[in-house]
Amino acid sequence: MSGKEVVGIDINEDIVNSLNNGIVHIEEPGLDKLVAMLFASGKIIAKKKPEPADVFIIAVPTPIKEDKTANLDYVIEATKSILPCIREGNVVIIESTISPRTTIDIVKPILAASKLKVGEEIYLAHCPERVLPGQIMRELVENDRVIGGVNLRSAQKAAEVYRAFVKGELLLTDATTAEMCKLMENTYRDVNIALANEIVKISNSLGINAHEVISYANRHPRVNIHQPGPGVGGHCLAVDPYFIVEAAPKEAKMIALAREINSSMPQYVVEQVERLVPSDSKVAILGITYKGNIDDTRESPAEHVIDLLIEQGYKVVVHDPHVKEYYHPLFDIEDALNNSDCALILTDHNEFRNLKPDIFNKMRKKIILDTKDCLTGFEGTDISLYKIGHIWSTVDKLALANVG
Ligand SMILES: NC(=O)c1ccc[n+]([C@@H]2O[C@H](COP(=O)([O-])OP(=O)(O)OC[C@H]3O[C@@H](n4cnc5c(N)ncnc54)[C@H](O)[C@@H]3O)[C@@H](O)[C@H]2O)c1
Repeated sequence: MSGKEVVGIDINEDIVNSLNNGIVHIEEPGLDKLVAMLFASGKIIAKKKPEPADVFIIAVPTPIKEDKTANLDYVIEATKSILPCIREGNVVIIESTISPRTTIDIVKPILAASKLKVGEEIYLAHCPERVLPGQIMRELVENDRVIGGVNLRSAQKAAEVYRAFVKGELLLTDATTAEMCKLMENTYRDVNIALANEIVKISNSLGINAHEVISYANRHPRVNIHQPGPGVGGHCLAVDPYFIVEAAPKEAKMIALAREINSSMPQYVVEQVERLVPSDSKVAILGITYKGNIDDTRESPAEHVIDLLIEQGYKVVVHDPHVKEYYHPLFDIEDALNNSDCALILTDHNEFRNLKPDIFNKMRKKIILDTKDCLTGFEGTDISLYKIGHIWSTVDKLALANVG
């Protein structure tokens, strides 16, 4: 802890109230204890409106619109909201993930309305958040940070802020480079996952095991193919590449294609379910978050899989041990599996990695499609376990002949 006094601003009154009572509204290991302790000590307070400060850090949502263009409205509103509080010497940092040139073309002109010269009398930088949900407490301190100023002085002023709590290296650059760094970090992973998903489709048509292809190829010291799955979700990987495509539509060909491949995976998963069980079957969905061991369902491919299955006539029941509320009723695992014809694993929660064959005993047909390659130890049982990357290999075809 660096000893600074912090005011947290949120327009959502419920969040402000709950934080002031020491309660965090998101699932993040270690955060609940720290927040309870800091709010009790009075070092942090949550408020609905900004007030004068030395440093303003803006970390509001940056979703995409229906047409896949960046929605910068929250960043614009939040920047405008601090204008009345801005004083000479202030440092303004945008941590939200933003489209290329947003700091220079959108945020800087808004701040210029303060009549203070941006870069000389007030300082503006983009320092993208790059923490992994589930590891935030550690990564916030240990990760290197890219700090892009509208000029060098701004980058240096912003770096002083992070030096108070970051142990990683502070990498100073210009604002647009920092914006692209963040977008490329997530785009690299999205493109890599698209490659893995394409290997799944190719391997299934060749009758080989994509998981084996990927894990053996990754034994090469300079190869790191990511893991395939039912698609890519979350508010980062499934969103940020579109910001680049919007900024450079003619050039960003591979990035756009990767988005297309990953977005095709829910449909691909449903096609595999259709090959396993007829469309009047009951499918138990296990896992609806966009990745394992978190409670976040934003942009999760599970939603598309569920909607497509229902469209095809399947009866769908949903289970997720991390999620409390969803647009579908949630069941505990036994009730979800009871009398179902296919268990469809869409998220690799640790709870699923540890599942034993017994839990599937009450299924009507013991068929599992594991899209996250997380189940092991089912050999020699009467359960037909299919993985997304080797559904139609010779061995599985034999198993399939016995289904139904
Ligand atoms: N959460 C992560 O792990 C992560 C990682 C990297 C980057 N990011 C980026 O950080 C940004 C924020 O993400 P998040 O997950 O924290 O979003 P979030 O939706 O969980 O939280 C954002 C909060 O901002 C509040 N808000 C909206 N407008 C506001 C305004 N004008 N003034 C004050 N508060 C306002 C909302 O009420 C909300 O509580 C996004 O650009 C995201 O892409 C997040």
